[in-house]
Amino acid sequence: MPKGDSLPTVWERPPHTKAKHDILTRYLGAWFGIFGRSRYHQRVNVLDGFAGPGRYDDNEPGSPVLTLNTLLEHRSFADFGDTTFNFIFNEWNGQRFASLQRVLADVKASRVPWPKNVQVMERDLNFQELARELLGSIPAGKQLAPTFAFIDPFGYRDVPLALIRDLVDHPSCELFIYFDFNSVNRFANAGNVDPHFTALFGCDEYKNAPASDAGRGQFIHDLYERQLRRECEFAHICSFEMITKNGHTGSYLFFCTRDDQAYDKMKEAMWKLAPGGGYRFDDRLAGAPVLFEDEANTGPLQDELAQHFAGQTVKFEDVCQYVITETPFHSGQVKKLTLKPMQEAGRISSPNQRRKNTFPKGTLIEFPSVTAWRRS
Ligand SMILES: C[S@@+](CC[C@H](N)C(=O)[O-])C[C@H]1O[C@@H](n2cnc3c(N)ncnc32)[C@H](O)[C@@H]1O
Repeated sequence: MPKGDSLPTVWERPPHTKAKHDILTRYLGAWFGIFGRSRYHQRVNVLDGFAGPGRYDDNEPGSPVLTLNTLLEHRSFADFGDTTFNFIFNEWNGQRFASLQRVLADVKASRVPWPKNVQVMERDLNFQELARELLGSIPAGKQLAPTFAFIDPFGYRDVPLALIRDLVDHPSCELFIYFDFNSVNRFANAGNVDPHFTALFGCDEYKNAPASDAGRGQFIHDLYERQLRRECEFAHICSFEMITKNGHTGSYLFFCTRDDQAYDKMKEAMWKLAPGGGYRFDDRLAGAPVLFEDEANTGPLQDELAQHFAGQTVKFEDVCQYVITETPFHSGQVKKLTLKPMQEAGRISSPNQRRKNTFPKGTLIEFPSVTAWRRS
């Protein structure tokens, strides 16, 4: 089986890789904060299944160094002593694995003494073999500890959905996975790599992808998302799109979770990234596109809340929960950027607010009925 790609052992970092790393580290900062203080989980895993050589040719760090440093430099790391963080870095290519080992040795040498609750495992297996080994190591009746799985291959091979499903079975597992859109777009109806695609999607519906002018791109994106949701039972999924130099969709990264708070944190990480730079986020709200570009542009959210809660008086917390679970926006956008302008415009009021335009917990928010705001 070829390990093949045409790149050297260490390659130049493309611009969208920086965006991917920014999201990864911003999100993991929040994830470590949650699990570091958790009373329910003594052990968590960060699995980097396609870890790469540990650095790029300009010496910029690769994902293993970034994820490790995000934990070690976390401002609350000193409070995380009761949680063991188990990092698994896997790279199949021998020369890249050797590079990764050198890079990780440097990280360890730079921190003496190495914290006892941070364990690093280095493996050089094919990802499928690694995943089966991890699953095989779980004692009967037990599950894998909460795991953040970063699955970042170059292409579409060796990431069968059935294996991913077993790996992320624990309710607290999360997945951040690369999807090779370009290859599926080119070969979905060609028949030459069907076994790989059938494994990738966990079905063969990709063969029904329509022509480009009939929504091929959206069909392929939505099919993969639907399969992640259906097979792995993820409640929340968001994606970001990497654009090629020619302006076409090259690939996507999908983030998948079952946890409302995690979904909120990931959306926040995506909104915080500066727009441009060869990638794009978008989502839909009430059928209309929302581009993650200007955090302050909450017009579509204001309209959605006015419509959804029309005629009701609800607590601030209920509004927030709706925003987190049902919209592309995040909780940090609710108070100042959404409810405040709505109150200033007379679109909401409150019977128990101490100070206008402020929304502490328990604040009741009155949304006029649709007929009332249509008349005004
Ligand atoms: C996109 S790169 C990883 C980049 C790295 N995650 C980062 O962000 O810095 C993909 C890596 O997966 C390795 N690889 C390819 N096929 C593999 C497989 N089946 N199992 C494990 N690693 C594989 C490649 O050698 C390459 O280094």
